Amino acid sequence: MNTKTLESERRKVVVVGAGAVGATYCYALAQSGLADEIIIIDKNEDLADGQVSDLVHGQPFFPTVGIRRGSKADYTNANLIVITAGAAQKPGETRLDLMKKNVAIVGSIAEDIATQDSHGVMLIVTNPVDVLTYVAIKRSGWERNRVIGSGTVLDSARFRHFVSHHCNVDVHNVHAYILGEHGDSELAAWSMTHIGGISIDNYCPMCGGCEGWQAERKNIEQKVRESAYHIINAKGSTHFAVGLALVKISSSVLRKQNSLLTVSAMVDGEYGLRDVCLSVPCVISDIGIARIIDSKLADEEMKLLHNSAAVLRQAIEEAGII
Ligand code: NAI
Repeated sequence: MNTKTLESERRKVVVVGAGAVGATYCYALAQSGLADEIIIIDKNEDLADGQVSDLVHGQPFFPTVGIRRGSKADYTNANLIVITAGAAQKPGETRLDLMKKNVAIVGSIAEDIATQDSHGVMLIVTNPVDVLTYVAIKRSGWERNRVIGSGTVLDSARFRHFVSHHCNVDVHNVHAYILGEHGDSELAAWSMTHIGGISIDNYCPMCGGCEGWQAERKNIEQKVRESAYHIINAKGSTHFAVGLALVKISSSVLRKQNSLLTVSAMVDGEYGLRDVCLSVPCVISDIGIARIIDSKLADEEMKLLHNSAAVLRQAIEEAGII
């Protein structure tokens, strides 16, 4: 029996950061049956051990998967390394101070990964995710397709939810994307929005279910943008939906699904942009980004995308990365 082949066929996912987001992702990933091994790393080893114990006690109730605490050596043969490690904002600390801390944390993890000669895909989740995806690419020296940020996959899900709710149509029939920064400068790509294959421009007049649908569009965008603030105010952190968004990205990497997802990608000429990471539609496979879809946007959307890129370039400069 060729055990080497069997070993290489095992799907190994390393999760760095065992806080609310990392643990929720592990919980959802374990239930999905996508991974053969889930390895958890956190600088707080007691926390990592606690999360591992809590998860393994659920093993009788989900598909077979090995779960344990790991170390840097585990990066070597991982198919996917998901980084959710980050510092929590301290009272009085500015957004810039926090960003600098997370640049240091994610930069050093990316360097550790690079020294382990891994051939997998790196998925950055820690905020500000677009800036940190940029940092991870620069510090690891990896090809741009192998380092992706979770970007606006979560925001796009929120957008689909609000469009579905407003139009009273199953969310699975709504295709809609948020592009740009995972943050305040993000934009809703209405020109790419379809309900049951019908563009929103054609669908709205046919439905006639609301007055002034252009105004509704603004409300929906606002709700998407404010979602994280509302949830954090109410419960301290967001972790369920992002955990599921991460499983969706993982599924496309581990199963080579070629799903079209708005991950944060380093652009190199696409959409007329270069040397910045932001969310654009990408086809995701086992090599990370198999293709960036350089689709035509409405003029106003293109302007907003370029504005979002400028906001992110400024953040990269403020953080002292370039
Ligand atoms: P958390 O504070 O609960 O967990 C962070 C964990 O990282 C802690 O357990 C901490 O010990 C660990 N950590 C810190 N430095 C480390 C290092 N050098 N090596 C290993 N572990 C380290 O935070 P939470 O709620 O899990 O959020 C994690 C990150 O995910 C935050 O930056 C948050 O803003 C971000 N996030 C991103 C979303 C997205 O869509 N991209 C959505 C929601 C949260």
